[in-house]
Amino acid sequence: MTGNDAVARLRAAGCVFAEDEARLIAEAGGGDEGRTARLLSRRIAGEPLEHVLGWAGFAGLRIPVAPGMFVPRRRTELVASLAIALAPHGGLVVDLCCGTGAIAAAVAHARPDLRIVAADVDPTAVAVSASTLARFDASSLLSDLDAALGALAGTVDVVASCPPYVPTAEIPLMPREARDHEPTLALDGGADGTALQRGVLAASSRLLRPGGVAIVETSEALVELTARAAGDEGLEATVERDEELDATVVVARRHTPTSSASSRA
Ligand SMILES: C[S@@+](CC[C@H](N)C(=O)[O-])C[C@H]1O[C@@H](n2cnc3c(N)ncnc32)[C@H](O)[C@@H]1O
Repeated sequence: MTGNDAVARLRAAGCVFAEDEARLIAEAGGGDEGRTARLLSRRIAGEPLEHVLGWAGFAGLRIPVAPGMFVPRRRTELVASLAIALAPHGGLVVDLCCGTGAIAAAVAHARPDLRIVAADVDPTAVAVSASTLARFDASSLLSDLDAALGALAGTVDVVASCPPYVPTAEIPLMPREARDHEPTLALDGGADGTALQRGVLAASSRLLRPGGVAIVETSEALVELTARAAGDEGLEATVERDEELDATVVVARRHTPTSSASSRA
């Protein structure tokens, strides 16, 4: 099969960036025609490109992704870039609900001075992220939110997180690639979408040192609820928005003893 045939088949299957995809699939095939044809068939059958290739582009890195895993989104680069900007030199960053470990890897790549711990409740996510993060001297743990991170309580400088935040009733409206190929555990944010964001913010109030920040991805539709949830945990929320990435993030700071005294005054 020629490259032009592959482009035509991908285009017929509805792939908008057919030329780019054909080139990447050929690269992943590594010159083995049979393997390239099998990868192409999987893509044409509707699997996400990243599952077919085995990696996703994120913050300039190729992050390994196993079939069936949540694929890191470009918009989540805002969480990573804020963590890179806000973590103090030599600080401790926790990537909660880490999935592939994309946020942790991007932060570790940009800031080798930091200590980085990632955690997820899904054993596949922990296995894949642990292998990725080992390259950066960072670790990944199996943990329901911060349940296994008690030893870090009160010591964390930055919690960086993209938890699931799709309201349950909206999951059937998501694109097929997400509905059919990503775990519901990675998408479902409960009735109003904020159940796991609330969990992450509650965990952050336990993990953060005074003055530390939680950086939590949200959507424009949910941002007020997310910011309010931060306030419910005694955290002071501000909102960051990146139009180009179409990304919305709540940055929630744990009060220092001085700042809480002055905010009461
Ligand atoms: C939207 S995905 C994001 C993954 C990764 N942060 C990223 O941006 O690619 C959400 C992740 O949260 C994890 N998750 C869901 N519930 C969790 C819980 N109670 N504790 C820890 N992780 C959880 C899922 O397994 C999934 O990997």
